[in-house]
Amino acid sequence: MTGFTADWLALREPADAAARAAGLIDALGLRGGAAALDVVDLGAGTGANMRWLAPRLGCRQRWVLVDDDAGLLAAASGHRAPFVPRSAFEPRSTFEPRAPLEPRAAFEPRAPLAPRAPLAPRAPLEPQAALERGAERYEPGSEGHVATRRLDLARGLDALDLPRRALVTASALLDLVSDGWLRRLAARCAAADARVLFALTYDGRIETSPADPADAAVRSLVNRHQRRDKGFGPALGPAASAAAAEIFGRHGYRLTCARSDWRLGRDSADLQRALIDGWAGAAIEVEPARAAEVDAWRVRRLGHVAAGRSELRVGHVDFAGVPGRTAGGSARIRGSKAPG
Ligand SMILES: C[S@@+](CC[C@H](N)C(=O)[O-])C[C@H]1O[C@@H](n2cnc3c(N)ncnc32)[C@H](O)[C@@H]1O
Repeated sequence: MTGFTADWLALREPADAAARAAGLIDALGLRGGAAALDVVDLGAGTGANMRWLAPRLGCRQRWVLVDDDAGLLAAASGHRAPFVPRSAFEPRSTFEPRAPLEPRAAFEPRAPLAPRAPLAPRAPLEPQAALERGAERYEPGSEGHVATRRLDLARGLDALDLPRRALVTASALLDLVSDGWLRRLAARCAAADARVLFALTYDGRIETSPADPADAAVRSLVNRHQRRDKGFGPALGPAASAAAAEIFGRHGYRLTCARSDWRLGRDSADLQRALIDGWAGAAIEVEPARAAEVDAWRVRRLGHVAAGRSELRVGHVDFAGVPGRTAGGSARIRGSKAPG
């Protein structure tokens, strides 16, 4: 167990799918060919990243889902991407000897709170039908191949197989990792001439409506919690996307970034409640002496959710990177502005 439950990942998956920056796939410059693209999904959980991405890549694929939680990986085979039949899952995973886990937060590290202008209406979820249309565009009747690999990426990054010219991807992972670990990952990716696509990296923003006087204080405590060690050393937390842009840029990657904020309204009441509870728990862990103040905030915010008037916006960034040799160009950030 890593502290991320399948229930939590299922709860966030629709919001993730609605938020992701689909335009970044073009920036990867993939061309469909006879050879399958190797896709390595780091911190794959139950495979939400694959479910979103596989039908959109437009080429043959061979996926490896990497995580240190055997239960989540087992669940992945029960939730296939539209093009991946159950038979395409390897019958058994490969296992790394597993080092004992360090204690980890029991909740997802999340974002700060900043009272802001009213939120934009939430984009509707992409219906399953659209995903299936995407699958048809990909290649009717073709089978993707999916393997799972249990590996503690914090300690075992060197043991990770990165096929040459693979696509290395992750969703909701980079804010958990340390600067040193991200540098090692970037060096591995560059050495393998791998493209990268990192989605849903928390960037330190939360906007709430209606605003509450304690939002800023709770956000600041939550952000302190974000920087705590999540198993990879001191976590980058809200600084992760800016650090990733800098680190991959130094390796000659051409980067394209885009916002992928969660916009949560009345139809995301369960996710809002889970976030508010998680933030309150994080804030109290950082400053136990402020438990009463934080709990009062939690009760007020949950009241807004119950009344159907709460809206939350949680800042995330997606980025795509193409190695300089592959792209034939220099490292620079294009597309929307670099994440801060
Ligand atoms: C926020 S979840 C994201 C899961 C999935 N990518 C998604 O978008 O639903 C982070 C994932 O990273 C995995 N993880 C955390 N620390 C890890 C480690 N040291 N080694 C491998 N996986 C790890 C967790 O088990 C979890 O599945």
